[in-house]
Amino acid sequence: MKVSTAAAPLLSILPEANLLIDNTGFCCTALQATSLRDQVFYPTSAAYNESVKFIFAANARLSPSCIVQPHSAEDVSIVVSTLTQTQCQFAVRSGGHTIWPGAASMEQGVTIDLSMMNSTTYQEDKGVASILPGARWHSVYKTLEPYGVTVPGGRSGAIGVSGFLIGGGNSFYTARVGFGCDNVENFEVVLASGAIVNANRTSRPDLYQALKGGSINFGIVTKYDLKTLPHDTLWGGLVIHDNSSTAQQIEAAVDFTNNIHNDPYASWIGMWGYNSVTGQNIMGGALEYTKPVAYAPAFEEFLKIPNTTSTMRFASIYNLTMELGQTPGYRNDATVLRKAIDLHNNYIEQAKAHVKSDYWAMDTMVQPWPKLFSQHSVEKGGNVLGLERFDENLIQLLFDYSWDNQDDDALFCRLGESILEELNEFAKSIGADNEFVYLNYADKSQNPLKSYGEENIEFISRVAKQYDPDGVFQVQVPGGFKISEV
Ligand SMILES: Cc1cc2nc3c(=O)[nH]c(=O)nc-3n(C[C@H](O)[C@H](O)[C@H](O)COP(=O)(O)OP(=O)(O)OC[C@H]3O[C@@H](n4cnc5c(N)ncnc54)[C@H](O)[C@@H]3O)c2cc1C
Ligand SMILES: *[C@@H]1O[C@H](CO)[C@@H](O)[C@H](O)[C@H]1NC(C)=O
Ligand SMILES: *[C@@H]1O[C@H](CO)[C@@H](O)[C@H](O)[C@H]1NC(C)=O
Ligand SMILES: *[C@@H]1O[C@H](CO)[C@@H](O)[C@H](O)[C@H]1NC(C)=O
Ligand SMILES: *[C@@H]1O[C@H](CO)[C@@H](O)[C@H](O)[C@H]1NC(C)=O
Ligand SMILES: *[C@@H]1O[C@H](CO)[C@@H](O)[C@H](O)[C@H]1NC(C)=O
Ligand SMILES: *[C@@H]1O[C@H](CO)[C@@H](O)[C@H](O)[C@H]1NC(C)=O
Repeated sequence: MKVSTAAAPLLSILPEANLLIDNTGFCCTALQATSLRDQVFYPTSAAYNESVKFIFAANARLSPSCIVQPHSAEDVSIVVSTLTQTQCQFAVRSGGHTIWPGAASMEQGVTIDLSMMNSTTYQEDKGVASILPGARWHSVYKTLEPYGVTVPGGRSGAIGVSGFLIGGGNSFYTARVGFGCDNVENFEVVLASGAIVNANRTSRPDLYQALKGGSINFGIVTKYDLKTLPHDTLWGGLVIHDNSSTAQQIEAAVDFTNNIHNDPYASWIGMWGYNSVTGQNIMGGALEYTKPVAYAPAFEEFLKIPNTTSTMRFASIYNLTMELGQTPGYRNDATVLRKAIDLHNNYIEQAKAHVKSDYWAMDTMVQPWPKLFSQHSVEKGGNVLGLERFDENLIQLLFDYSWDNQDDDALFCRLGESILEELNEFAKSIGADNEFVYLNYADKSQNPLKSYGEENIEFISRVAKQYDPDGVFQVQVPGGFKISEV
């Protein structure tokens, strides 16, 4: 088995990006001259502060010249037309959960904040949920629950629908139905021209395909029609163990990953974590079963390991995703996993020697990405992630660091980049590396689109040129991962 890595330093406080030419007093004035004049907010307003505060990572809370909050696809179209005519740079933000600064906001430019477009409507006849781009998964789950249905969305309820769906989207249901993006039946998109169009299997199928993983390279999605599935009560929660169980956990993880196809109702995330409050280095397993069955045999190897606490219970998807809060991380070969946890322990000691923060935490997250996932993608028509070209079961690794003192920005960024490099080198040396980098967990220093494979890169470029011939989403929208930078 092979591994794929990502690093995500979180929550440092200083903005480090300064992307802009300062042309933006002009841009905000231009927006104010449209019918959206009451939806443009400046740094002196409470609405502006609220909007910035909702960005997840403290270091990503940049200060745009103004923030515009559209209420409809028509509003988005007006904003895009205005900003393209005035050649103003802008950023697009939905749930604001990308952890690096500048992905979904910007210094000095205009940030289009889609959080007011946050409703979910169930279309029973079609078996789809129409979800607006600024919704967060907990509200989607809550809205759908009375109808007895749910969707393959975030495992943390707070994250946004948009980034998740256009970057792939790994849910508790991936082993059953593929990635979140594989379950989109229709995207409504505002193109650079301001046109509001649908992209689905029969209309603009190329754009439809490219949006399944291609992120912010084509336009702004203003609605997702997502296929629903029955909402059964789940059995899930968090099981905490002493880190002395590490070797056993790793064996169990590899075994679990290689057997998911025997029981796709089971999902597991492994989290090795240290934080400065408890001063403890522990191991946590998030076990979720998407049917009301406790202690399913799929979890047997994990359940054999003695735990210190467990919140395993029967609950709704809403309830379980409210529990999984802050931070995930991930990569599959027992040797690489053991190395990852050794490095994890070692890097905690390195941090202890230099850290200035009052609060800090270092998590190493391990997550199965079996072949079964991309088999579902292919059955559903395919996406652009390119995972079907790998024949092995993968395990994903994420190094996820948080700290509160800006003086530690350089320290944690260096540790994040260095642990990733050491692990990648090790994995390569034993032939257990895999080039895939998951966009939704990638750091700015990584190049996830490049890991999709040559064919997908060419396809994404072609579709981007076709629907955005002037390259607005490459140049005027600098945030996010860009196909022109692959
Ligand atoms: C605590 C936590 C838990 C997570 N759990 C999971 C998980 O279970 N599974 C998983 O797969 N991932 C998970 N992630 C990763 C998550 O999928 C990404 O952070 C994702 O980008 C979040 O979407 P967002 O809308 O909040 O992001 P944003 O930061 O708002 O946007 C992400 C990118 O998409 C662009 N964008 C936003 N809206 C639009 C739009 N409407 N049209 C076009 N482009 C747009 C932005 O410009 C930006 O580049 C988690 C992240 C965190 C921090
Ligand atoms: C917005 O936040 C700034 C900086 O934190 C603060 O100085 C200002 O008073 C706030 N404005 C409003 C209206 O809340
Ligand atoms: C949508 O956003 C508004 C404004 O922040 C909030 O009051 C409302 O509860 C949200 N609705 C949903 C369904 O999340
Ligand atoms: C696909 O797009 C076309 C054109 O807008 C639309 O008429 C059709 O209803 C869409 N199909 C789906 C499944 O949404
Ligand atoms: C458990 O954590 C401690 C403290 O960080 C570390 O020294 C030890 O090596 C860890 N044990 C395992 C098996 O990872
Ligand atoms: C956790 O440990 C308790 C006490 O040994 C045990 O009864 C329980 O089944 C364990 N839970 C899990 C999920 O392993
Ligand atoms: C989840 O359910 C438990 C009871 O099983 C309850 O105590 C808790 O408050 C619920 N959480 C949320 C966010 O609803």
